Amino acid sequence: MKEIKINPYGTISRTEFYDATIGWRKSFVGYGQAHAFAMYDTIDKILDENKQIKGIIEIGTGSGSLSIFLGLECYERAFQPLLTFDIEKRILPLLFELLDIQFINQDCFSKESIKIIKSYLNSPILFICDGGNKKKEFNTFAPMLSKGSIIVAHDWTYEICYDDIKDTVKKLELEPIKEEEWCESPDYILTSFWKITK
Ligand SMILES: C[S@@+](CC[C@H](N)C(=O)[O-])C[C@H]1O[C@@H](n2cnc3c(N)ncnc32)[C@H](O)[C@@H]1O
Repeated sequence: MKEIKINPYGTISRTEFYDATIGWRKSFVGYGQAHAFAMYDTIDKILDENKQIKGIIEIGTGSGSLSIFLGLECYERAFQPLLTFDIEKRILPLLFELLDIQFINQDCFSKESIKIIKSYLNSPILFICDGGNKKKEFNTFAPMLSKGSIIVAHDWTYEICYDDIKDTVKKLELEPIKEEEWCESPDYILTSFWKITK
């Protein structure tokens, strides 16, 4: 795999994105991944270090492979079951039922979705922006999250970068966490993590 240097606060081209993410296109329990395996390790460490977190919301279910990993985290850590949204109808992995994963087949910005999201927010959570408009997801949902929550932007530097969220970061005094893992080789998780500090 070609090693490329990525500025965690900048943007990258389509070619750089392709080169960096060749290792993403694997599968987890038979479901195609649109992310790096190494992201599981980063999320696991973040949950170990942030015991205030009691639930996870994912925007963009896709094939459901990341959802299964997140659902396992919720189940094992006795969180609220994973809440995951996709605007498209999906064939759900069998594990969704076992892990009590709540799949919402709706636009995450619809009135009904916002109501469901708000009713989940009775404690700090991990909120993953991985739908079709990460900039809008980040800037819409970050202000709703309580202190101690962590908001995550996937496809960082490619679909969303610092310029897209800087006003929200400043206004909410978001603190970057695990920065050294955002854009590093060999895994290039291309994902940023921000803690809500107030
Ligand atoms: C990149 S895929 C998600 C990948 C998945 N999280 C994973 O890592 O395996 C993005 C998904 O977001 C969904 N999506 C796009 N716009 C959406 C919206 N407004 N609300 C909910 N889901 C949306 C798409 O249908 C697509 O399945």
